[in-house]
Amino acid sequence: MTVTPEQLASFFKKKGFIYPSSEIYGGLAGFYDYGHTGTLLKKNFENLWKNYFLKLNDNFFEIETANIMHEKAFKASGHLDNFIDPVINCSKCDFSDRADHFIRQELEQNVEGFSPEQLTALIQKHNLQCPTCKSHLKPVTVMNMMFPVNLGIGGKHKAYLRPETAQSPYVNFKLQYELQRKKLPLGLALIGRAYRNEISPRNLTLRQREFTQAELQIFFNPQKINLFPLFEAVKDYKLQTLLVEDRPLHTVVERTAEQLVEGYHLPQFYVYHLVKIQQFYIDVLKIPPSKFRLYQLNDLEKAFYNKYHFDLEVELTEFGFTEMGGLHYRTDHDLRGHQEISKEKMEIFDEESNSKFIPHVLELSFGVDRHVYMLLDQSYDDDAQRGNVIMHFSPSLAPFFCAVFPLVRNKPELVALAEEIYADLNTHFSCFYDPTSSIGRRYARADEIGVPYCITVDFDSLENDTVTIRDRETTQQRLVKRSELASMLSTLYRSSARQR
Ligand code: GAP
Repeated sequence: MTVTPEQLASFFKKKGFIYPSSEIYGGLAGFYDYGHTGTLLKKNFENLWKNYFLKLNDNFFEIETANIMHEKAFKASGHLDNFIDPVINCSKCDFSDRADHFIRQELEQNVEGFSPEQLTALIQKHNLQCPTCKSHLKPVTVMNMMFPVNLGIGGKHKAYLRPETAQSPYVNFKLQYELQRKKLPLGLALIGRAYRNEISPRNLTLRQREFTQAELQIFFNPQKINLFPLFEAVKDYKLQTLLVEDRPLHTVVERTAEQLVEGYHLPQFYVYHLVKIQQFYIDVLKIPPSKFRLYQLNDLEKAFYNKYHFDLEVELTEFGFTEMGGLHYRTDHDLRGHQEISKEKMEIFDEESNSKFIPHVLELSFGVDRHVYMLLDQSYDDDAQRGNVIMHFSPSLAPFFCAVFPLVRNKPELVALAEEIYADLNTHFSCFYDPTSSIGRRYARADEIGVPYCITVDFDSLENDTVTIRDRETTQQRLVKRSELASMLSTLYRSSARQR
């Protein structure tokens, strides 16, 4: 059954996943809140991400840092000068929009990376007018997307809300390198908020003004980029790629890791991480391979700090292939910039290679809110037969792993036993208790928030010490001895983790 984005948004709100922030005041464009189920889903995604990427190397660590950063940090990173979007304004009314988005919509032409002058020329050539009042449009200007904040009394000190989490590990690099025994590659992972004054926030949490990123910055010796010992083990792995050269046909081409290195001169260190990322989507998040692709950006599209840049894209029901993250080879752009502006030396002496250099950075960047949206989108299933929505979350992502229901509410011994079982399970698993409505309605409610297993305590439970476990996917029910319940659920949880 097809569902519109508006129906999805209303369902996500009704079930406590996500909804507009400050809604009692009419909402604030680009800001969203997570309810209880959404928060649990988001935390579960973050935990999976951490468990997977931090374990790629013993020298990878997590840090947590301030969201507001020194103005000079963004001079050094280039964001003050380059983190800009083109803007179009009407000469009469207050219409304004992101110029490249506006032109793409009007002319169905991709103009990413075009200069303001090129965009203005296109508007004039095609005589594009204000969609609201049909007046003349002003020449395209640019707007910096960072949010400034004024600190202290009188707001004398200017700082910025960080537009990406990445700059925090960069300004922390030197200290962390010393603390972590001066070894490369060094990975600094950070899950935190980023802030961008997006001109046209839209599509729920896909384009927000405040959002969460999960980013891993890997500092490494650039002399070793082409020869990475772990590459051998993944060289035959097939990647779902859409390279710049594939664009005319717009088809995804399977290429082995080795083909990307030999045929396209991508470094082994870079391609190894493309493999690990694809494995994360397909083996851990369970995205069907046909819905995942690694999309290579051309020189005009790449972020200003990147030498190599692939977007990590997943096909969404309504929006098609959508960027979830990116693998960015940022060279020494950031550390060199911070060295220049802060006068702190970022150069290190690497004992292993007996050489001095500024480490280069490979960035694995993921937008958490986009992933949460993607997981909601991919899990959603309006099941006509059951007559309710089923969220097919995997057990490790589901907000609740199990639920406990007393069959009826008017039998105190039965309710007491159900409460006891719930209290016990809740110490081991994410579990909730639901004593109200018919049992069918409670199963439906559990399906709608994607609970994999529901445990019903009924009259037999009092007699025989058994409970019923119902499987969300099959609706099959089986009787289990109460004494074996926790260990059976543990086995089910572990086996779903193994299937990953
Ligand atoms: N540190 C690199 C960096 O920030 P980016 O491509 O600008 O790169 C990384 O952002 C990811 O953050 C994106 O792939 C996307 O998932 C997420 N993201 C970026 N802007 C966003 C926005 N306005 N709303 C929600 N997520 C966003």
